[in-house]
Amino acid sequence: MYTIVWSEHEQLASDAGLIPLAWTYRQFPDQESYVRIIDPVPKKVAILCSLNNPDAKIFPVIMVAQTLRRLGAEHITLIAPYFSYLRQDFEFAPGEAISGQIFGQLLSQYVDHVVTIDPHLHRIKSFGEILTIPNDILHTDIILANYIKTNIMNPLIVGPDGESWQWVNRISKLLNAPYVIAHKTRTGDREVSVRIDDLSPYTGCNVVLVDDVISTGQTLYQTAKAVNHPNLTILAVHAVFADDAYNLLRSVSSHIVTTNTIKHVTNGISVAPMLQTYN
Ligand code: R5P
Repeated sequence: MYTIVWSEHEQLASDAGLIPLAWTYRQFPDQESYVRIIDPVPKKVAILCSLNNPDAKIFPVIMVAQTLRRLGAEHITLIAPYFSYLRQDFEFAPGEAISGQIFGQLLSQYVDHVVTIDPHLHRIKSFGEILTIPNDILHTDIILANYIKTNIMNPLIVGPDGESWQWVNRISKLLNAPYVIAHKTRTGDREVSVRIDDLSPYTGCNVVLVDDVISTGQTLYQTAKAVNHPNLTILAVHAVFADDAYNLLRSVSSHIVTTNTIKHVTNGISVAPMLQTYN
């Protein structure tokens, strides 16, 4: 499919066989966005943009979508390998914005179809509760399991919290490997504590921590400390890596691997084959 490709995804788009449309994005000195679509616009078109750093990206995405529409696009698919704002899916304290819903409803006004990978659906059971347009959800369990199978012998899959169970359970089934879910308590953005049950039945296994998102890194850092294994692997889908999260995790593991839904130095597993159906 002809696609407006965000600059950080050029390699991913090429590997997925998406055909880039020429366009320009830049910011004026005052941080306002400038968008220009240079190539002719086909009736069916996609935008490839992961929605990490969402507040900076959402308006340019809307500008691109509206400009595509004005130039003749009749069907716009937003391929957002990472879809943000999904963790604030509930009014935890009175008066809080339910950001996921607001974000999804906003995007639904400008594009016709959303494709995303492993969205953080926890309290929300269906992506349709967030979006009012058709959507495809793709899963990385098979490619993560393949990575473990190829690179780590005798793995024990460890999830940091109940929310990670959906990934950990599927991956361990694919590998026929054992898994353990730790118990996480989060009391603030960076205040996380993790407790884990006795791992002595798994002596001799190589520990692989698996989670969907690395943001501050605290979840997996505290899990690694609780596991206290000399040689553990950290595997995650979405490499958000806020602040100093990368260095924090490097202090507990020299083997950190993520998928390229968000471009990062830890990317070691490509989601390109999963996007090939949209080429
Ligand atoms: C939440 O349950 C998610 O699955 C991740 O565990 C969480 O978002 C990771 O965030 P952080 O890296 O900030 O601890």
